[in-house]
Amino acid sequence: MEKIILTGDRPTGKLHLGHYVGSILNRIKLQNEGNYDEMYIMIADAQALTDNFDNPKKVRDNVLEVALFYLACGIDPKKVTIFIQSEVSALTELTFYYMNLVTLSRLMRNPTVKSEIKLRGFEESIPSGFLNYPVSQAADITAFNSTIVPVGDDQLPMIEQTKEIVHSFNRIYGDTLVEPKEVLPDSIKARRLPGIDGKAKMSKSLGNCIYLDDSNEEINKKVMQMYTDPNHIKVTDPGKVEGNVVFTYLDVFCKDDDFQKYLPEYKNLDELKNHYKKGGLGDVTIKRFLSSILCDLITPIREKKLELINNLDYVLKVLEEGTKKANIKANETLKKVKNHMQIDYFENPKFLEEMQSKFNIEK
Ligand code: TRP
Repeated sequence: MEKIILTGDRPTGKLHLGHYVGSILNRIKLQNEGNYDEMYIMIADAQALTDNFDNPKKVRDNVLEVALFYLACGIDPKKVTIFIQSEVSALTELTFYYMNLVTLSRLMRNPTVKSEIKLRGFEESIPSGFLNYPVSQAADITAFNSTIVPVGDDQLPMIEQTKEIVHSFNRIYGDTLVEPKEVLPDSIKARRLPGIDGKAKMSKSLGNCIYLDDSNEEINKKVMQMYTDPNHIKVTDPGKVEGNVVFTYLDVFCKDDDFQKYLPEYKNLDELKNHYKKGGLGDVTIKRFLSSILCDLITPIREKKLELINNLDYVLKVLEEGTKKANIKANETLKKVKNHMQIDYFENPKFLEEMQSKFNIEK
């Protein structure tokens, strides 16, 4: 079987470190391993509109923003097709047909959708488009015959829903759609990076993000604000490493080489943690260390992004070409779907024959 990878992001803001460890790094790894037949990354503007329909400018402004981050982080458009969801109309068509296969109560049970409804305060007036976005996501995934969908754990209910739609569709209309498989990031720690305030998730609305184009001054300032151990008051006090955001980040980002470069008194992170736990190691030292590591990570991304901002016509061209390719592929699936659903009146010569025989017309 072909190996087809598809992922996507809603264009609602800049990408931050949470995106980097949760998805971007994994995509770059997959891209560079090259162990696939096709790889797609979708900018999910239509999905973003399901809960931002009253703010189209926000979505519009962030389409290129997200594309800039992809390219600046090292996604290579020669290897990966990057495209804009709303420009692939087969996806909207497929969504409409898949909606017949999903009940309202099933949609209401989706845990991610449920918590988003709460968060957005939709309660009694949930837009039906929003409730249906998991169906549209099933269309995104199946339109490309995707076999592998690398996602964070909040997206697992969408993959589950997609599998159900694939099964129903194939049962009713015959073998048509390919069942996808989810792939979670390797490291459990990387699946969900906490915000600088220690809250479970880095999120724009919580104002606790480090963005992938922050300046070194901003990075430094944010690291200095990071939540550590509230009982570690004097340098000599013993400190806690668990739940200490600086150490959570060091676990994810620091390599042994970083010690030689910035903290040669320690061999590795275990040594640093032990000293902190014993007492005698101040927060400022570990924060300076983390800040240097994050600046090293973000500086080339920020600089590459700036270079691309001066070449926006190139970035737009990448999206246009990717979208063209995506349309070809998604239209093939739509054609097959319509054929199996018996709604292919003009393309299938059998239709005329069937109708002629229905009306007893001799050919
Ligand atoms: N729901 C995803 C998110 O919020 C974006 C998305 C849309 C997606 N369609 C997809 C992800 C298909 C993977 C596959 O980030």
